[in-house]
Amino acid sequence: MEGVVPISLDPLCHTKDTQRENTIVVGPPSLLSTVNKETSYIITGNALTALRQLPEETIQTCVTSPPYWGLRDYGIQNQIGTEMDISEYLNRLVKVFRDVKRVLKTDGTFWLNIGDGYTSGGRTYRAPDRKTDNGHVVRGLPFRPPTPAGLKPKDLLGLPWRLAFLLQEDGWYLRADIVWYKPNILPESVKDRPTIAHEYVFLFTKSEHYYYDYKAILEPAVSGKGRRNKRSVWVVNTEPYPQAHFATFPPSLILPCILAGSKPGDFILDPFLGSGTTGLVALQQKRNFIGIELHPEYCELAEKRLAPYATILKTEA
Ligand SMILES: C[S@@+](CC[C@H](N)C(=O)[O-])C[C@H]1O[C@@H](n2cnc3c(N)ncnc32)[C@H](O)[C@@H]1O
Repeated sequence: MEGVVPISLDPLCHTKDTQRENTIVVGPPSLLSTVNKETSYIITGNALTALRQLPEETIQTCVTSPPYWGLRDYGIQNQIGTEMDISEYLNRLVKVFRDVKRVLKTDGTFWLNIGDGYTSGGRTYRAPDRKTDNGHVVRGLPFRPPTPAGLKPKDLLGLPWRLAFLLQEDGWYLRADIVWYKPNILPESVKDRPTIAHEYVFLFTKSEHYYYDYKAILEPAVSGKGRRNKRSVWVVNTEPYPQAHFATFPPSLILPCILAGSKPGDFILDPFLGSGTTGLVALQQKRNFIGIELHPEYCELAEKRLAPYATILKTEA
């Protein structure tokens, strides 16, 4: 693809950081009312309510990928993504991200990864169940949500853009629609449209002017001479994290977001932490993070994944 340059940032360091002692506190949302800048947090709770505990203007950059609509049953009450109505799903996300805006610094950035989907067209296909290495089974949703009003069978939902427009209406500045091109995507059995091989990473900001270190993410120029401002198509292979059942961030997808959006010592937020990839990249880049995750088992997964990089402190209050 012309003009597309594969990500070529320095490889992530996977060894324990000996220059800096990290601490991760694990516990309930009440911890968020008095966060300490030198510490990271894994919070077991509902993003819709937990964020309310966090003081405003605490976070420099938020990087997240919410559950997609109508795909997985995480098997826990208050999960997002199982709504029968697309508007209800979108409104819940707008509410979560309204609180993200409140806790973001005035010059902060918000990087949102979201994929699209198709209307069910009356089909009853169910995403297959998957078993994690620790034996936990995650079910595909036992139903497909009905075709939203105004759409037809086989319509592409346009879900990322529906959400982006709602967030713009809610006051966010939409600054970029980054296309995440996935060269290694699995084939689809379709013969009447191209195989979908991309998702979006939207860059939103709270203000017209904001912190964005373009020099930190320069990419090689096509001529081979020198470097240039990073382009809006990012070529990144998907990289499953073996213990997680759900789609996890490839670390190199979110590295540029963290490098351009923050400085060492800043707080990075992920309100849908999953297996903790945002925390991993944040710590490796000498940032602290706050991760919120509804499912206690996935909090434990993130905790185990990050244990080589930090001292873990568990607390009940
Ligand atoms: C797509 S996964 C995130 C994966 C993550 N980016 C990673 O790299 O591992 C979405 C996560 O959101 C969690 N989730 C669903 N509803 C939630 C809610 N209301 N509050 C917080 N987390 C929620 C799910 O349990 C799931 O782990």
